[in-house]
Amino acid sequence: MEIKRQLMVHNMLPEGSDALTINSGTTHHSKQKTATVNYKGVKFTPEFIPQAYVNKKDWRQLTAKELACLAPNEDRNDFNTIYLGEIPEALQACFETLHLVESTNRDEVFDRLEKDPPAIQKATELLNEFLLPKSNSKKFNFHCIGVNHPNLELVASNTTMLAVGHKESVRKLLGLHNDGTQLMTIKTAHEFGNRISINLGKDPRYFLFVNLHLMEAYKMLQERMSADEFMAVNITNIPAYFFSHFPDYPVLKVQQKQYQYYIAATDNCFHDGSTLGNKNLDITMVYFGSFQY
Ligand SMILES: [Fe+2]
Repeated sequence: MEIKRQLMVHNMLPEGSDALTINSGTTHHSKQKTATVNYKGVKFTPEFIPQAYVNKKDWRQLTAKELACLAPNEDRNDFNTIYLGEIPEALQACFETLHLVESTNRDEVFDRLEKDPPAIQKATELLNEFLLPKSNSKKFNFHCIGVNHPNLELVASNTTMLAVGHKESVRKLLGLHNDGTQLMTIKTAHEFGNRISINLGKDPRYFLFVNLHLMEAYKMLQERMSADEFMAVNITNIPAYFFSHFPDYPVLKVQQKQYQYYIAATDNCFHDGSTLGNKNLDITMVYFGSFQY
């Protein structure tokens, strides 16, 4: 299936379009072998929630036609465009002083952050300087430092349903999904801004997404399903409905090297992160806001 002209990609990465690949679609997680995580004495094969769908692995470069289909125009905004780029050198240098990449687990990452308040202060100032001109609403806020194992097919899991201190291996992966809260509906999911996620780890990581607004996925389902069936589609179950009805709609993958970022309205599109093939701990910093430029 060809990608539609929907979400656009504003790409300022030095790798240009080489950072992007595309595949032939998705499959139910049970139909594809899951990579095993084996890191510093922790070994497990991640499990998925029953209704999880995953990307196929037949990645290829994009054609000129596909790149044109993603090209941004003047109408780009915080929910219709994925922005890709690199953080400024001064900010990179500041993160270097924290030696986060030497961490082998979540606790070590946070120890390094807590040990050096002046560096955190400096990083926060530089981040504010960097984000302010990109912020539509002038309001943005730190959301989290994310830490994931290397060689994880997909990173998002059902952690909110698990007890504090749970073993990471008991997490269940969500598969490609839309974020969002109970405050949102399919129609309003684009109104809640976007996020910037910066790779602070040593290895490249991957941002996977489907270039459709949630509302377009909904309309596609309406055309495909009976009226009775379609009644059941909601903001929580829409990924499973979409991927089961449109297994041939491609997924796009962005390689995000250290200090590179993506900005995306993750409430408004199907997406996930991946550390497949990596050897080192995955570390990301996420801010919520309404970024566009
Ligand atoms: Fe997500």
